[in-house]
Amino acid sequence: MRHMPGIVQLLILQCWCLVIITAMPLDFKGEICSNSDCNDNTTYIWHQIHNKIKELASGARHLFEKYYEGQGFKSKTVDKFTVNVHFPKFNATNSSEENKATELFRIFSYVSAALGNITNAQNKMNSKNKSLLSELGKTFSGVKGILSNLSCFLCKKYHVSHVSVHYGPPLQDDSFKQKAQGCKMLEKYQHFIHQAVNATIINHPYESETQNPSMP
Ligand SMILES: *[C@@H]1O[C@H](CO)[C@@H](O)[C@H](O)[C@H]1NC(C)=O
Ligand SMILES: *[C@@H]1O[C@H](CO)[C@@H](O)[C@H](O)[C@H]1NC(C)=O
Ligand SMILES: *[C@@H]1O[C@H](CO)[C@@H](O)[C@H](O)[C@H]1NC(C)=O
Ligand SMILES: *[C@@H]1O[C@H](CO)[C@@H](O)[C@H](O)[C@H]1NC(C)=O
Ligand SMILES: *[C@@H]1O[C@H](CO)[C@@H](O)[C@H](O)[C@H]1NC(C)=O
Ligand SMILES: *[C@@H]1O[C@H](CO)[C@@H](O)[C@H](O)[C@H]1NC(C)=O
Ligand SMILES: *[C@@H]1O[C@H](CO)[C@@H](O)[C@H](O)[C@H]1NC(C)=O
Repeated sequence: MRHMPGIVQLLILQCWCLVIITAMPLDFKGEICSNSDCNDNTTYIWHQIHNKIKELASGARHLFEKYYEGQGFKSKTVDKFTVNVHFPKFNATNSSEENKATELFRIFSYVSAALGNITNAQNKMNSKNKSLLSELGKTFSGVKGILSNLSCFLCKKYHVSHVSVHYGPPLQDDSFKQKAQGCKMLEKYQHFIHQAVNATIINHPYESETQNPSMP
């Protein structure tokens, strides 16, 4: 029995790897009405999107720290990297729910591609660091779930069937630059995911009595 936690951990890890592999083909490529895994209640879907984003936000800092430590970087050096990442700007100030959902879909699509690339690179460079890989895998599958729910939401509520997404330039060849790009990307992701929590808060007055969305 002493070995149980290790075995369980390994099983969980293998699950995440499986999730990564099987989740890959589930790429909407912007064609969002192809998802059949949809609930009819769009209010419920939006709640679920908000809750999943909140969950990712609570782990984003941890992921970022684990990542740069895993590369052997110190937090202070991260600011000095001159590599570029093309993280899309999130412009949700005062925009309609439909616009917000569209923007979120676009950005989460980018995040999913970037996380996939970072995970592939880490699988090669840092394959022994199972805890980092499992952390990346957890976030990746969370992002895929949100994309799935966003596609349902946009399709069912607003009959949006296409969102144009861009995946940014590929990671650079140089392994130091790849690591540094990963850092930058995860740093920007951290900022974005907290904005996304705020942007998906539902402001119906009746809800302020039952829940307080500004609490972490
Ligand atoms: C839809 O979901 C919301 C939030 O979960 C719930 O309050 C509402 O009763 C549901 N509506 C229907 C028609 O099931
Ligand atoms: C959100 O997406 C996941 C993955 O496709 C699905 O299992 C879940 O039922 C979806 N939730 C809603 C409310 O549609
Ligand atoms: C894995 O990364 C963590 C930080 O994310 C670090 O503390 C640990 O030493 C690394 N383990 C291996 C085996 O490289
Ligand atoms: C946002 O919308 C509110 C109400 O519609 C308005 O009062 C406010 O000035 C707007 N803010 C910006 C930055 O456009
Ligand atoms: C952001 O959205 C607002 C309102 O939806 C719009 O007026 C503004 O031009 C947008 N800014 C950018 C950079 O897209
Ligand atoms: C991910 O990698 C693919 C293949 O190299 C590339 O086309 C795409 O632009 C990359 N995207 C990001 C965000 O890293
Ligand atoms: C989210 O909203 C809270 C409360 O209104 C605010 O303090 C915080 O700065 C906001 N975060 C972001 C990233 O916009």
